[in-house]
Amino acid sequence: MRRRRPLAEIISALTYPLHVDDITALFDPRYSSKQPRARVTKVVREGPRTATIRFHAPPGWREHQAGQWVRVGVEIDGVRHWRSYSLSTAPGQDPAITVTDIGQVSGELVRRVRRGDILYLDPPQGEFVLPEHPRPLLMITGGSGITPVMSMLRTLAGRRADADVVVLHAARTRADALFVDELDALAQSAPNVQHMLWLSGEQGRLDLTTVDTLDRLCPDWRDRAAYVCGPEGMVADAERLWADEGAGDHLTMERFNVSRVDGPAGEGGTVTFTRSDREVAVDGATTLLEAGEADGVALPSGCRMGICRTCLTKLDAGRVRDLTTGEVHGDPGDLIRTCVSAPAGDVQLDA
Ligand SMILES: Cc1cc2nc3c(=O)[nH]c(=O)nc-3n(C[C@H](O)[C@H](O)[C@H](O)COP(=O)(O)OP(=O)(O)OC[C@H]3O[C@@H](n4cnc5c(N)ncnc54)[C@H](O)[C@@H]3O)c2cc1C
Ligand code: FES
Repeated sequence: MRRRRPLAEIISALTYPLHVDDITALFDPRYSSKQPRARVTKVVREGPRTATIRFHAPPGWREHQAGQWVRVGVEIDGVRHWRSYSLSTAPGQDPAITVTDIGQVSGELVRRVRRGDILYLDPPQGEFVLPEHPRPLLMITGGSGITPVMSMLRTLAGRRADADVVVLHAARTRADALFVDELDALAQSAPNVQHMLWLSGEQGRLDLTTVDTLDRLCPDWRDRAAYVCGPEGMVADAERLWADEGAGDHLTMERFNVSRVDGPAGEGGTVTFTRSDREVAVDGATTLLEAGEADGVALPSGCRMGICRTCLTKLDAGRVRDLTTGEVHGDPGDLIRTCVSAPAGDVQLDA
């Protein structure tokens, strides 16, 4: 049977050497048959190191659920880097990300991106979303961890104005706290929204290792659907506390970063990227993703920290060490996260 050629393929053949994207981009740079792109419509400074970047949803964009994140691609010196960012607006509004400058890609977004620039995007994803049925809520956030919660609160403000929500946001100083005026205004206008700002510069770290602080600030915290997003230590403490109190089912967490375990690196080995026909010697501290990229193998990636699972790649042979736990694992056919896996002996990857 003759295979029907997709329209993009036919146009590509007719327009060679230009790709169909090059032609369509002349009319609308947001169009791409392969990779959605969005045009930045506004950049709002939220603080000395933070900016909200709004963009027009690209054609065919699936509306996000409040709390979800997108993979954003940014070109720096001709290389496209991908990172994950939570959407901070409510569904139905033009999407936006709110980025704090802490490194290479966030720095580029906060300091250089302007109205009219084009960003590369993947569809929204993530499980850190509002519960389907109304419940009293407790949102605990630290630093930029407020961004997905902002999307939830903006959504609730439009759809469930009587929602019972306690927001406990930790920041070093009031000047560092994001969206603080909007949160205060929301708490004043919505009868059941309470906003508490925890200033760690004055009050010390928000302690979630024991029940004391929560019992004092939100006595019914065990009964609420709790959402925690913030620094790694805060999320880990919350996970332990809710589990110890038998309330683990009430807790939903989002991590923005994950540390690697300390200690000596493993042995490393020879990594074969079977489909790319490449072979490279890799030490036990280098991830398979880094090794592949350095050798010119195109591997998918997103957060590069073991969270988003964009980098899952099939293991054909060998075992790998998970650099976030130290665990050595892997059977042929397993999907492994190349961004946090180093070879533990010789490895073959389906890439
Ligand atoms: C699901 C998800 C949602 C996210 N949402 C947001 C968001 O809404 N706003 C936002 O600003 N960022 C968010 N991030 C973090 C973001 O993806 C990047 O990790 C961050 O911007 C740093 O990237 P970079 O290239 O600037 O820094 P890099 O140059 O890659 O890293 C700089 C250093 O900072 C460390 N690091 C990375 N992320 C963090 C972090 N969050 N806290 C502390 N140290 C870190 C790295 O380990 C590295 O040592 C999110 C991450 C995930 C996984
Ligand atoms: S790139 Fe996100 S889990 Fe590997």
